[in-house]
Formats: sequence, structure tokens, C-alpha cells
Amino acid sequence: MTKNKNWWKNKIAYEIYPRSFYDSNGDGTGDLKGITQKLDYLKELGVDIIWICPVYKSPMDDGGYDIADYYSIDPLFGNMEDMDELIREADKRGMKILMDLVINHCSDEHEWFQKALADPNCEEAEYFYFRTSKNGPPNNWRSMFGGSAWEHVGGDRYYLHLFSKKQPDLNWENPKLRKKIYEMVNYWLDKGLGGFRIDAITHIKKEPTLSSLPPDGPDGMVACFGPTRNYPGIGEFLLELRQNTFDKYECMTVAEAAGVPYEQFGEYIGENGYFDTMFDFSYSELYSYGHGWHTCKKAGEWPIVWLRDKMFASQLATEKAGAFGAVFFENHDYPRAMTKYIPDKYHSPTAQKMLGNLFFFLRGIPFIYQGQELGMTNVRMDSIDDYNDISTKNHYRIALQDGLTEQEALDAVARYSRDNARVPFPWSNTKNGGFTTGKPWLKVHPDYPQLNAEDQMKDPGSVYRFYQNLIAIRKSEAYNQTLTYGSITPILLEYENVIAYQRSGEKNICVICSFSHDSQTINLPFKFKKILLSNYPDVKINGERLELLPYQSVSAEI
Ligand code: GLC
Repeated sequence: MTKNKNWWKNKIAYEIYPRSFYDSNGDGTGDLKGITQKLDYLKELGVDIIWICPVYKSPMDDGGYDIADYYSIDPLFGNMEDMDELIREADKRGMKILMDLVINHCSDEHEWFQKALADPNCEEAEYFYFRTSKNGPPNNWRSMFGGSAWEHVGGDRYYLHLFSKKQPDLNWENPKLRKKIYEMVNYWLDKGLGGFRIDAITHIKKEPTLSSLPPDGPDGMVACFGPTRNYPGIGEFLLELRQNTFDKYECMTVAEAAGVPYEQFGEYIGENGYFDTMFDFSYSELYSYGHGWHTCKKAGEWPIVWLRDKMFASQLATEKAGAFGAVFFENHDYPRAMTKYIPDKYHSPTAQKMLGNLFFFLRGIPFIYQGQELGMTNVRMDSIDDYNDISTKNHYRIALQDGLTEQEALDAVARYSRDNARVPFPWSNTKNGGFTTGKPWLKVHPDYPQLNAEDQMKDPGSVYRFYQNLIAIRKSEAYNQTLTYGSITPILLEYENVIAYQRSGEKNICVICSFSHDSQTINLPFKFKKILLSNYPDVKINGERLELLPYQSVSAEI
């Protein structure tokens, strides 16, 4: 059989954070049956591919990204029958499920790690990075969630964890471990899964001597990116992974591939790349530099051309590599896009629609994150105890250490917390936004009476309906070829508060987005043949002069 490796390219993908999507049994936590019950909602929106964040057995130290058993479903989410049913029901509707594949690390409660702890000489001890050291941690690497990347387990024994101490890193240098991982991946693909989103995969190769490096902060430690992200030699592991698993199936793989430079896009996702597509993070955290969230700049404090230039650099590098990216503005690790890109006082459904239009017609497969299609905004909780996210707690601690008051620290982490995106999905204006009949595991967004799916589906002017239109246009016979395979060219670069591009294929389409809170008039180098979509009822065009209203977006055939 010849495999169709391109089946996913003209599709629309949607990310679900299962814990917060829909609770089918009233225990306060979203579950697999809940997703199955809401498939028709996604179908109506126009979604084809659904990535679900991890649902495997897990102590939930990091929202399920700490897996204790790759072969079972955590009871919080249901059981294996529920998973099979979800895959089946999705199939019936012509939709495919992607699971999250977390293979850089597992949970310290995984059987392998438990065996390794009990017996330093057993086979499983070689599946991890155990080292001995008499004077503190074996090196000065800092973990992503703060503190040393090494955890002491008694005597002079330590293990490496790039993420939380409950997420020991797996030692990919060990061929027996690699074989076990491939078997597990194939077990899931045999179930008829659409494929995987592959977590933190650029970290699987470590600098082999695990040496200390010059510190980059007052704690004497150093961020572990240099020696563990896209480290030379990683390609051998990635190729072997692909050949032993994905190559045998008609599946889709999308890698979380932070730290891959543009020159290597071809190697990762080109014609013979390790993956089908990947998320590029080069334009996701423009606000984030310094060592804590409290030092980040707010939207409006940095020029929007930063976003424009990085986003287009990524688009053009992907195209040049003969590759096809996965485009996104939101996911479960970021605050809502509105907070990232638009100053607080200008937040509005109009601006939400503009952001949607901007990312949706880029070259690559669009991934919508749950609630983005409703224009959900950040949420503010009253106390640090209301937050669940491990990195929020870490950044709160850093802010306090740096001398901020509790209030200031809370303000800073509230803005960037991953829980902004993880609060329960507002289905309706009824109690708890219709998410659960029980007590929600994380506080619901207080805006649900005004901002919820049910009301938006009835309102022709809603953000939901705008997304539905975006999807319909992208999938339409007239424009699908151009919006999927057409080339991309940045345009109108002389306007610093505008991000605009042209897609050229069977047709020519332009997308023009204003990031100004004032109206501005721009000169177009072409004429509109047909306006496809705008976030205002009117598009004020006079010959080649277009008056853009505040945060207006216009897509047109030219
Ligand atoms: C990825 C996930 C994130 C998780 C981390 C560790 O970045 O998206 O949620 O905390 O990997 O697994």
C-alpha cells in the first residue's frame, strides 16, 4: 500500500486539554467521554484533527506530562474502552485523534523508575540518568521549573530531571529503552490513532559529559537549553524513532520542537524529515526574557514588528525547506493570545477576530486551542493557592525572592500563568459554565455568563462564528488549494502597525491586519477582486486606499 503522507495538510486541527474540556460524570474533571460527547461541537466548527493532551496514568504533577504507565488511561479521564470509543466515534465523523507522546521523561512513579530506585544495578537504572556526586548535584544545570535539574535519592546518588523532580529524564542512549518506547508507540498506532503530538522531543539528547557550565544567574546555575536542546547527534535517535514507528503507519506527527534553528527545518520536517510537521516557538514568547515572568514586557511595550518579522522569518524558512509547519497562537502552555499581543485596554472581540484571521491563513496547518474560538481571555485568581500549574508556582516564588510583594508577584504570574488557558471550557451560561455538575478541579472563568459556546453559536457576530467562517473559507473549493499550498509573501512592510501577507496559488489572497487602536489609511499595491472576510461589517476601500479601523482585519481575493 502506498501511504498518503499528506492527508492532514489541508485539514484544521484543534487542541484539547482534557481535564478542562467537558466533565461527563460530575466529578469536576473533564474526561474522555466528555470529549466524545462534544465531538459534534467540534465537527460543526469544522475541525478534522484533535490533539488531546496526555490522558495516561499519571500522578498529575505536571498536568499529566508525568506518565506513570504508557499503556493505561488515568481513572480521572476514564478507561481504555473510553479511549477506543473516542477514536471510533471520531473516525465515524471523519475526524482523527492525536495523542500526546511524552518520551523525554516519564513519572518517578513509573515502574521503571521505581525499580531503578530500588536497585542501582538493574536494567531499568540504565533507562535514566543516575550519577553519583559527593558534593551536591553532579552539575549546575537548572531545571525548567526552577531549582537544580538533579534530585538526590540517598547516599551520593542523584538523577537528572530537566522538568519537575517527578519527571526523571529517560536515557535515550540506552537501546533497550528505545526499543520499549517504539513498541509502546506502535501499540497506540495499532489502535487506529491519527498520530501524535510529540512532547519536548528536542531534549532527548544530552551533552554526553553532563558538565557544569558558566552560571547565568545569582543561583550559580545555568539554563539547561545549551547542553540538552537539539544537541548534536539527536538526529540519529529521531530517525530511528521514525523508522521503527511512524513510517509504518498513515499517521501524522507534530513535534514540539523548541530550539530548532531555521537552517535545520528541512532536516526536521522537510521531505524526509523526522516529523511531518512541528510547532516553531521562535515567535511565541517575544515578551519573555530575563529569568522570571515578573520581568517580562507587557503587550504594547514592545513593537509589533517583532512579531511580524519573526513570524514571517519562520514562515519563509519553512517554505524554503520544502516543509509544512503547524501554526498556532495559543496552547496549554501560554496565556491567552490577546494578553500577549494587545494592550489590556484595547481587548475586544474585534481584536480577537483579527488575531484569528492573522494566524489562520498563514502557510501550515492551523491548530486552534480550546476556547480560542470563543475569544477567551486570561483569568485572574484571588490567591496563588487557586493556581494548579507548577510553573506558575515557580515564577511566584522567583518574584518573591526578587523582592516583590505577594500582590505584585500574583499580578505578574496571573498574566503569564499556564492556567489562563487551562480553566474549564465555558459551554453555556449555566452554573460552572456547564462544564461540570460537580466542583470544578480548577476555578471556572468568571466571564462564562457572557462568554460561552452556546450563546456564541446563536450569535452571527460572535468570535465562534468568525472562526467557523475562517475554517469554511480555508476549506472551500475556491480557496483551499491557495490557502493550503500557496506560497507566502509578506506585504505592506512599510506600515509598522500592520501585519499583512499574500498567499499565491491557484488564486491570490491577501490578509491585512491592523494592530493600531486608531484608524489608519494604507495604500494597496493591488485591487481587491472579492472581499472574503472582515471583523467589521464594512470595509472602507476607495480605489487602492484602504481605511483600516481599529484592529480591523480584511482578507480578500486580489
Ligand atoms: C511540554 C508541555 C508542557 C510540559 C512540558 C514537560 O512543553 O507542553 O505542558 O510541562 O513539556 O513535559
